[in-house]
Order: sequence, then structure tokens, then C-alpha cells
Amino acid sequence: MKTILVTGCNGQLGSELRELAPQENEDVRFIFTDKDELDITDRKAVNLFMEQHAVSVVINCAAYTAVDKAESDEALCELLNHTAPEYLAEAAAAVGATMIQVSTDYVFDGTACTPYREDDPTNPQTVYGRTKLAGEESVIRNCPGSMVIRTAWLYSTFGNNFVKTMIRLGKERDTLGVIADQIGTPTYARDLAKTILLIVEKGIVPGVYHYTNEGACSWYDFAQAVHRLEGIRSCRVKPLTTADYPTPAQRPHYSVLDKSKIRQTYDITIPWWFDALKECLK
Ligand SMILES: NC(=O)c1ccc[n+]([C@@H]2O[C@H](COP(=O)([O-])OP(=O)(O)OC[C@H]3O[C@@H](n4cnc5c(N)ncnc54)[C@H](OP(=O)(O)O)[C@@H]3O)[C@@H](O)[C@H]2O)c1
Repeated sequence: MKTILVTGCNGQLGSELRELAPQENEDVRFIFTDKDELDITDRKAVNLFMEQHAVSVVINCAAYTAVDKAESDEALCELLNHTAPEYLAEAAAAVGATMIQVSTDYVFDGTACTPYREDDPTNPQTVYGRTKLAGEESVIRNCPGSMVIRTAWLYSTFGNNFVKTMIRLGKERDTLGVIADQIGTPTYARDLAKTILLIVEKGIVPGVYHYTNEGACSWYDFAQAVHRLEGIRSCRVKPLTTADYPTPAQRPHYSVLDKSKIRQTYDITIPWWFDALKECLK
């Protein structure tokens, strides 16, 4: 029987995995943990957990995801996004397990104008991006047979995210400024969770992969789409430039990810971002 450990299970992606994972059967058993059950920064606890439960695959959804706060909280961000994945990877390797480490488009500098491929040069511009890249490298180095999946612009019915903020502000205000010169791809965490479960079922083909929904848009387009689908008409969304809205962490201007590798390796069709948003808002 395969035992799959999911860490950070109260977050957006972890919660989707929890909803979608198959019931325990003779082939597979999922164990869902967040920091109360397994604090991934506690090396001893990680080692013990992995041995006691005979884990075969770790899906690491735990992370420090507050991108702006990370700029002034580097030590904790480093601990969660780099050191802790290293503990998980070492412990996994010691019991013969493999890992799926979830990572980010922030490993790139965002200066490209065509979709980033997995082997394009990385050049993170933020504490979050640097620590996530170090986490990727640690997992690959310490736990051969593992996989890194970079994603972007995650939203879900769980947790706080851009979609929920746009709905709330759209109902509260009559105008709203949203950045129009940063291009990426919104990603419904449920679609990523489905893909991760398929990978677990079919087997991990080691390496780095990209997964987002299909297509590309700006935050402004994304906000407009949310309001349109939610029937919010009383709020005018105005386009802003990055210069109009300074943030502690520099955002990539362009962070669309090329998904050919994951599509071909696992023979999947990825939903278009607008259709995925419609599905989530249903
Ligand atoms: N959100 C995005 O837009 C985005 C974009 C690109 C990539 N990603 C990546 O996708 C993955 C999933 O993101 P997400 O949005 O689902 O994250 P999330 O909602 O922030 O969830 C992260 C979870 O990890 C938990 N956690 C924090 N410290 C922990 C510890 N020491 N031990 C165990 N768990 C701990 C958090 O608990 P608390 O909330 O209580 O701290 C939270 O439940 C992450 O690797 C992230 O870097 C996210």
C-alpha cells in the first residue's frame, strides 16, 4: 500500500487535495497534515513521522506565501521555503520515498515575453522567489526521483486570494484600480490538485514541471472577469501600472509558464483560465 503525506493541508492547494483525494483503499492511503500535526520546520518530527507512517510520497503544499511580508521576514521565509523542504527531502530519501514539491513562477525575473520553459534560466527578484528556488534545488539534490511543479496566481474557494478580494472590494466600492501591466495565468488550485493526484496514480517522472491553467491575462483582465461572472456592475475597474502601485516585493511583468512538458508526459488537457474561473465561481 502507498502512503501519501500531504503537508500544509489547510492552505488553498492542500484543502483542494483533501477534498479530491480518494478514500483509503488497499492501494493507497492519504495522510493530511498542517503545522499542528506536522510542523515541517521541526527536523526531528519530520524524520519520525516519515518512519512511523512508512510514507511513500510527500506532497509538500506548506510554504511561506506572503510575498510582500517575506521581504522583511527573510529568516522565517527561508526556514519554510528552503530549510523545511530540505528536511522533508532528506527524510523522504531515508525511507525510500519521493516528493512533489510545489513551487512558483517567482523563480523567474519576469523579463521574458514568451512562456517560460522549465529549463529557462532562473533569476528570482524577491525573498520569496529566492527561497522557493533554493527549496526546489534542495529537493532535487536530496531526494532523487522527486518532482517540482511550478505554478502561479493560485486561487480557490479555500483561503484568501485575489478572486475573493475582488468580489469583496467590487461589492464595497464604486471604483477599483488593478494592475494591467503584469501578465500571467490565473490557476484554479482544484485543477492543479487533480493533476497532482493523477501524477501520484500514474507515477512520478522526476524533474521540474510547469502547471497553470491555459491562456494569459493581466490582473486587470482577471478582476474584470471575476466581476463579470459574479454580476458585479456597480464597480468600475480601472487599469493601473506597476509604478502606480508600489509593493515591497517586485512582481514579474510577465510570468506565463510553458506547460508542454506536463501535458505531454501525463497526457492531460489543461482547462482555459476563464473556464476554470467560471467553474470555481459556480
Ligand atoms: N498562492 C499563490 O498564488 C501561489 C503561486 C505560486 C506558487 N504557489 C505555491 O503553491 C503552494 C501552495 O500554495 P497555497 O496558496 O495553497 O499556500 P497557502 O494557502 O499559504 O497554504 C500554506 C499552508 O502551509 C501551512 N504552514 C505554514 N507553516 C507551516 C509549517 N511550519 N508546517 C506545516 N505547514 C505549515 C500554512 O498554515 P498557516 O496559514 O496557518 O500559516 C498553510 O495552511 C506553495 O508551495 C506556494 O509557494 C502559490
